[in-house]
Amino acid sequence: MISPLQRGARAVARTLRREAEDGAGIDGVHNSRKRTTHMTDTANESQVFGLSSEDRRAVETFYRAFNGRPELLDQAVTPDWQDIPLGPGQRPGRDGMKPLIEAFAAAFPDAEIKIHEIIAGPDRAAVRLEITGTHTGEWFGVAPTGRSFVLPLHEFHRIENGKLTHTWHLEDWFGWLNQVGAWPPQTTTKRGDTMKAARLSGYNAAPTLEEIPVPEIGSDDVLVRVGAASMNPMDNKLQMGVLHDAFPLEFPYTMGTDLAGTVERVGPDVVGWSQGDRVLARTDPTSGGALAELAVLPASYLVRVPESMSIERAAAIPTTAATAYQALFEMADLKPGQTVLVHAGTGGVGSIAIQFAKAAGARVIATASGDGVEITRRLGADEVIDYRQEDFTEKVSGVDLVLDTVGGETQRRSFGVLRPGGLLLGIAVPPDEEAAGAYDVKTAFNVHISDAARLEKVVERVDAAGTEVLIDRTVPLDSLDEAFARQGSGRARGKILLTP
Ligand SMILES: NC(=O)c1ccc[n+]([C@@H]2O[C@H](COP(=O)([O-])OP(=O)(O)OC[C@H]3O[C@@H](n4cnc5c(N)ncnc54)[C@H](OP(=O)(O)O)[C@@H]3O)[C@@H](O)[C@H]2O)c1
Repeated sequence: MISPLQRGARAVARTLRREAEDGAGIDGVHNSRKRTTHMTDTANESQVFGLSSEDRRAVETFYRAFNGRPELLDQAVTPDWQDIPLGPGQRPGRDGMKPLIEAFAAAFPDAEIKIHEIIAGPDRAAVRLEITGTHTGEWFGVAPTGRSFVLPLHEFHRIENGKLTHTWHLEDWFGWLNQVGAWPPQTTTKRGDTMKAARLSGYNAAPTLEEIPVPEIGSDDVLVRVGAASMNPMDNKLQMGVLHDAFPLEFPYTMGTDLAGTVERVGPDVVGWSQGDRVLARTDPTSGGALAELAVLPASYLVRVPESMSIERAAAIPTTAATAYQALFEMADLKPGQTVLVHAGTGGVGSIAIQFAKAAGARVIATASGDGVEITRRLGADEVIDYRQEDFTEKVSGVDLVLDTVGGETQRRSFGVLRPGGLLLGIAVPPDEEAAGAYDVKTAFNVHISDAARLEKVVERVDAAGTEVLIDRTVPLDSLDEAFARQGSGRARGKILLTP
């Protein structure tokens, strides 16, 4: 024996199925003409078994709110409406849902809500629906994947006086994660696993490759599988303890600041990054950690590696390119037509500085030696001085800027090649003010601080301009001794890369 309620429910279900096949839903989100037709049909059918047109409108308005119109909730639900269960980060009540709706609309701007079936009684409605869309914005910490999805939902509403008072809902979020490729996680590390890492047991101790536990990540941290890491003179200075005042190390210390790789795991509070993302970063020198198979760092340090850029190229960028950028454009404010003398044109910083300065319209003079003369010419220097063969002070005068990457005697002799009012910008050692006093010049010391926003700009610049990232050598992490010695020699032509 079929009850009147069941009969009514089946009639509504038939109508809505038809409408779903036509592409229209109760919400009418994607077609206002269909919405009008649909709402009229539904009103007739709803009245058959007791959902008043007022209650029906509340249900429709509720779903329409998800199309980026959270204010519609005011018409659809009571202020203390209970949404059961609350979504992650959702506060209770009507207003608690609104930020979530805004985030939803931002993450899925093309979302469509299709109602498949409604079974309704006088004060309640059970709705079977689905959301289709494309994942183009971050959603609950899952960075945009660009993938499309179909998310089935079942909702049960209690309605009083034309407003929803309670909504119980069931969504297949695991299915959604699976469709966008974020589930199951591809992580290959588990608690208790170990990894290779370049370690220091104390100042001046020889770096050693050790097998250590994979570090735990904090709630705002990311675990990155290092594809490549690059060394800097700073790694040697840290090892010698000469930077102790600025960067006191705790031992055992895992070396390395510059890395690129793929996100392996994210902490629970991390938003915007997910497993598999290609990233580069510069860690805090006090924490180090880049010269290892896996590295933990705050998510706020990460920058995305452009698709067109290799992981090796990305790993060579963080300290050197960001320092060159900071020095030339933030500290020195280099202008087109100015002349800059870049010392150590074959160094990690100098090789990039030549190219950035040229691209900015400056005339570039570089110092180098041996095969470095040809290299710096290739990088775009207008004039190259072999500093071992010639005295640069005899060939250069009146420059606007000296980028001093060397210090010592090179620095002291550079004051005299500046025009009056010119700037000597040191990065290796702070300018010798006493020596500078004899000249009418300005001095400054550039301290490079890790800054993901700057690094992101620099990566874009390197990628867009096809800046050559000079690589001295790429060696496996097992060849740590060779890499450390080469970096310490001060003779490297560009960057030394280590691949775990
Ligand atoms: N303050 C900051 O924020 C900051 C940031 C980054 C780096 N730094 C510092 O800046 C310095 C340069 O860094 P880097 O990464 O570019 O070093 P790097 O890559 O190790 O520099 C090596 C290059 O320097 C050249 N060179 C050495 N002495 C020279 C001289 N007297 N004249 C001309 N070229 C010379 C070498 O060429 P030859 O073999 O031909 O001599 C070699 O190719 C380091 O002291 C580093 O610690 C400071």
